[in-house]
Amino acid sequence: MPDTVPAYRRDLYSRAAILDPHPHYARLRDLGPVVRLPRRGYALPRYVECRAVLRDHDTFVSGAGVALNPVTNRMSRNTTLGSDGTDHRRRRTLLAHRMLPRALRTIQEAVQRRAAETVEAALRAGTVDGVALAAALPLSIVPDLVGWPRDGREHLLDWAAATFDALGPLNGRGLRTAGANLAMLRYTRALVRDRALLPGSAGADVLLAADAGEISPAEATALMIDYLAPSLDTTIGALSAALHLFATHPGQWAALRANPGLVPNAVNEAIRYESPIRGFTRTVRRPAEIAGTPLPAGAKVLVLYASANRDPREWDDPDTFDIHRDASRQLGFGYGRHGCAGQALARLEAGAVLTALAERVTRIELAGEPEWLRNNVIRRHARLPLRLVP
Ligand code: HEM
Repeated sequence: MPDTVPAYRRDLYSRAAILDPHPHYARLRDLGPVVRLPRRGYALPRYVECRAVLRDHDTFVSGAGVALNPVTNRMSRNTTLGSDGTDHRRRRTLLAHRMLPRALRTIQEAVQRRAAETVEAALRAGTVDGVALAAALPLSIVPDLVGWPRDGREHLLDWAAATFDALGPLNGRGLRTAGANLAMLRYTRALVRDRALLPGSAGADVLLAADAGEISPAEATALMIDYLAPSLDTTIGALSAALHLFATHPGQWAALRANPGLVPNAVNEAIRYESPIRGFTRTVRRPAEIAGTPLPAGAKVLVLYASANRDPREWDDPDTFDIHRDASRQLGFGYGRHGCAGQALARLEAGAVLTALAERVTRIELAGEPEWLRNNVIRRHARLPLRLVP
């Protein structure tokens, strides 16, 4: 029965565990395939169970929210991320087609050009913050795609970080985000009310669907946030993690420069190694069993993508960063019906910057002590001083 399930009493959301999560994941994986987190529910730290639960979206549902607290779960009822069945399909279809590789072909050249300009500017500066370098593309591409007006963009990164903090438990960090989350909601509602989205954008499509009665005004607001909030910090996290890894693994950088065809592998491997989203929750809809552990209906299950991606049962030498390995089955983008709708865009942006760097930069070196962001759900650097050697 559930109380025989091993428990992990350390707080995964403490400051120390956020800054250095991997030893915690290793202990969780050693405890078993299902581990009880007191006051939070169950956690899945191993690859096979994470993948199986993400695949079984009828039993392990998202419609009760994917956050680790009831307040955010209530507020995210109209999102793609927090819905099931036909609601989910309708919301996802409305926007996801714009993020498919075919649709992105039209912006591919612009992305590559912007990546080249960003890298040239970074090289002129010599010493740069890798986070700013990683943020340049997402911050210029995604808001245009979503149709966010030019004024108001200065808040986007703070709001995105607040959204991810709020997807964790209601600890101090989660509670402190209330102001930012409310400001984002208010701003987005005003955008929908004033029809202030850029013409021809994904956001403008949402307004048309609302006009046609296909979605409600509340859904329209939620969908704007849906495509903006998860698209910035995540991509920035993946790319800055890659930069950090290449700075600390010069042999891997030399290998990438010698064979730029490895760029897609490198993106997968960086996301496997430092998954930008540590985990999201599912709710058990009917009594179920995971790896022999019975779980009651209503139980919350935290799918730890970040831990699954370092599971030695699945990966050889999981703590080694190796761009030659095939990491395409990593779970950093999720998997199954809710698998990341924006992954082609994220891959395009991260790949373009790595390619532009590989063409021009012989060595990436650390120029100071990196700092990780303190956030309940997102894992990315807050600061990453780098020297780029032409
Ligand atoms: C490296 C960058 C990214 C990572 C690591 C990432 C990660 C994820 C993960 C783990 C999920 C699955 C959620 C679940 O299992 O419940 C997800 C879903 C989603 N992502 Fe991403 N994401 C990234 C970039 C983006 C971008 C660029 C966009 C949009 C432009 C985006 C939009 C979405 C949306 C809309 C969903 C919800 C899909 C659904 O519920 O059907 N993401 N992402």
